[in-house]
Amino acid sequence: MSAKKKQQAKKKTSTKKSVGAALLDQLVQEAKAVRERAYAPYSKYPVGAAIATKSGSIFVGCNVENASFGGTICAERGAIMAMVAAGERDPIACAVVTGDEGASPCGICRQVLSEFATDMPVVLVGLGSRDGESGRVVQLADLLPLAFRLEP
Ligand code: THU
Repeated sequence: MSAKKKQQAKKKTSTKKSVGAALLDQLVQEAKAVRERAYAPYSKYPVGAAIATKSGSIFVGCNVENASFGGTICAERGAIMAMVAAGERDPIACAVVTGDEGASPCGICRQVLSEFATDMPVVLVGLGSRDGESGRVVQLADLLPLAFRLEP
């Protein structure tokens, strides 16, 4: 790894400590709201995701399914596409909201999130737990250790 890459990686992981509970809560609220707009007529499993960036912006995404099932886009990837289209590339935290007891991002979404963040907190909230809403915070680096990378 070049010195520049090492510095960039260090910079990205250093956001870990700066993400407060208030921001994570805000992301959960945004992810809940966008989940209402999910298009999931086949699975009936709506998902909402929200991503905060270093600049202070928040980008949201919901799953959008397709009759040709492989064309389905997950909520997390929708949020990443919105972030990049807006000209931003530095996510610092993510929330994912589902209607069950809480779900963990799929493999493709883990890889896509990892393209832009070496590590960041990912809040997983389930609205349908036995005791009502439940949530836990995991780290992206734990969700996808040894993520595939190419030196751009
Ligand atoms: N889904 C997401 O939006 N995110 C994930 O990380 C896992 C799965 C969506 C895809 C599909 O529309 C539905 O959930 C059921 O798989």
